[in-house]
Amino acid sequence: MRIDIITIFPDYFAPLELSLIGKARAAGILDVHLHDLRSWTYDRHNTVDDTPYGGGPGMVMKPEPWGEALDAVVAAGAAALGRPDAVPTLVLPAPSGVPFTQARAGDLAAEPWLLFACGRYEGIDSRVAEEAAERMPVMELSIGDYVLAGGESATLVMVETVSRLLPGVLGNTDSVTQDSFAPGEMENLLEGPVYTKPSVWRGREVPPVLLSGNHGAVDRWRRDQALRKTARNRPELLERIPADRLDRHDQEV
Ligand code: ADE
Repeated sequence: MRIDIITIFPDYFAPLELSLIGKARAAGILDVHLHDLRSWTYDRHNTVDDTPYGGGPGMVMKPEPWGEALDAVVAAGAAALGRPDAVPTLVLPAPSGVPFTQARAGDLAAEPWLLFACGRYEGIDSRVAEEAAERMPVMELSIGDYVLAGGESATLVMVETVSRLLPGVLGNTDSVTQDSFAPGEMENLLEGPVYTKPSVWRGREVPPVLLSGNHGAVDRWRRDQALRKTARNRPELLERIPADRLDRHDQEV
């Protein structure tokens, strides 16, 4: 997958050199390109923002640098992919976007090319997204009901979530299907407690069923624990599990 990121803080993305994503890049699974929005400004101060029309607090990002940046990054990416007509899916992180969920991460992981446009201040002049939508798919995505100082940290969250779903990034592909929120068995369920050796630590024993070797009993116990944890931490999620996904034992938990 190719990922382009346009930002006024390219240094913000140093963590993409590390760990799972660093390895995926080294393995050629992920091809990340960072772009400084200020390369498309031509005044002495490299201005990217201005006061909002209609008044009000804060500043708004100017459309001209964004328009030129998108044109250049799309053209360079298409040329690099050897497909002159290719376009990325443009992701605009914003608190006013639709919620970024595990399901949306799965959809994005199936795309060959993503372009993240990181806004700062009060956001990017709205005509930028409107104009971009005439030539590429555009998604405004929010990572949660709170306001960050800019789209950079939201982009890091989304890139990490999407990257670990790409084939070859995680050593054990089973771990993705057993995660909280994973499509299938774990949809709308939180993962329950996990344990490793030693079997007794500070007088606390690992639940005996996990040492029993009875895989059926272990699966049942894990599902019970997931249901309990979800009831405790996110009761509203349980309402979303369709009745035909709950067996009689589930109803008793
Ligand atoms: N930018 C500022 N806040 C954000 C949020 N909650 N999600 C995505 N982008 C943002």
